[in-house]
Amino acid sequence: MAHSEPPLEDLSALERDGLQAVESASTLDELERVRVRFLGRKDGLVLTLLRQLGDLALEDRPAVGAAANRVKERLQSATDAREELLGQTVGTSGRAHDLTLPSRNRWVGGRHPVTQVVDDLVGIFRTLGFTLSKGPEAETEWYNFQALNTPLDHPAADEQDTLYLKGGHLLRSHTSPVQVRTLERSKPPIRILAPGMVYRRDSYDATHTPAFMQLEGLAVDEGITFVDLKATLSEFARRFWGPGTRVRFRPSFFPFTEPSAEVDVKRVYRTEEGKEAETDWIEIMGAGMVDPAVLEASGIDSERYTGFAFGMGPGRIALLRYGIPDLRLFFENDVRFLEQFSRS
Ligand code: DAH
Repeated sequence: MAHSEPPLEDLSALERDGLQAVESASTLDELERVRVRFLGRKDGLVLTLLRQLGDLALEDRPAVGAAANRVKERLQSATDAREELLGQTVGTSGRAHDLTLPSRNRWVGGRHPVTQVVDDLVGIFRTLGFTLSKGPEAETEWYNFQALNTPLDHPAADEQDTLYLKGGHLLRSHTSPVQVRTLERSKPPIRILAPGMVYRRDSYDATHTPAFMQLEGLAVDEGITFVDLKATLSEFARRFWGPGTRVRFRPSFFPFTEPSAEVDVKRVYRTEEGKEAETDWIEIMGAGMVDPAVLEASGIDSERYTGFAFGMGPGRIALLRYGIPDLRLFFENDVRFLEQFSRS
């Protein structure tokens, strides 16, 4: 037995090395090189070792020979198994896939940038006690105009020309009709927000679209004054644009509010050099005290109750927020544009 030990030790080292090499082969090409190195018929390491059998004592040869054959079989079957495994990841090109390639991104849906702005606006007003309300997009002339103190021959009705449907309905030109519908079915105190699409006879260009999103607000209760309107809308603006935001109320006219105002904001921001700077005044909404005629048309006692209302365009606010140059981008459904706004 004196001579048989070194070959047996060599054999088990060979087996260990061989199995390790087979396992770490990550492509079929690599595996083939491993096979040739260990099991090759010419200079394979196993055969080379077997050839050395001749140097052994006669009685040791059978044991070492059998051990060598077992090593050969084990390496052979490990190679076959590995080949099958790697073969499963071979594509039509016949090459193994590169498992280190980054995976393809999954499609993940996201909220439209205008919807995100609506959600943020609603979130702020919710903390001020406003709840959501809604009304139909196909409205009657009564709710869209007359109940809002706008006779059909009033110039304000011309400005909001829209599509008329069969049966006396029209596509609402603003969300203000939801004020009337809400007042009709609920008792003060009322504090609601009504987001939704509105329609106008308008061009389709960078700054106009014939359909767009509006957000209406209404608060009606005993003792509501212009101070409540200013305080509520100023608080909203500071929460949305930041605490340094300045708010300005300019006298204006709407048939359904008296007095009426346009609300502008001026934002304070830091330049890249760290200096404080201000934007221009930017108009963000129309607002006013609900005209008593609107309360009466909705069956609310205008001697007892007063209220304020406002209406804004979340699309325009999204333009300002993201610096988007063209309203049409909101309607094109181009994923390359939309995915820039995805929030996880
Ligand atoms: N409905 C108006 C429009 O579409 C916006 C508006 C202005 C709504 C003043 C209001 C308001 O509630 O008080 O142009």
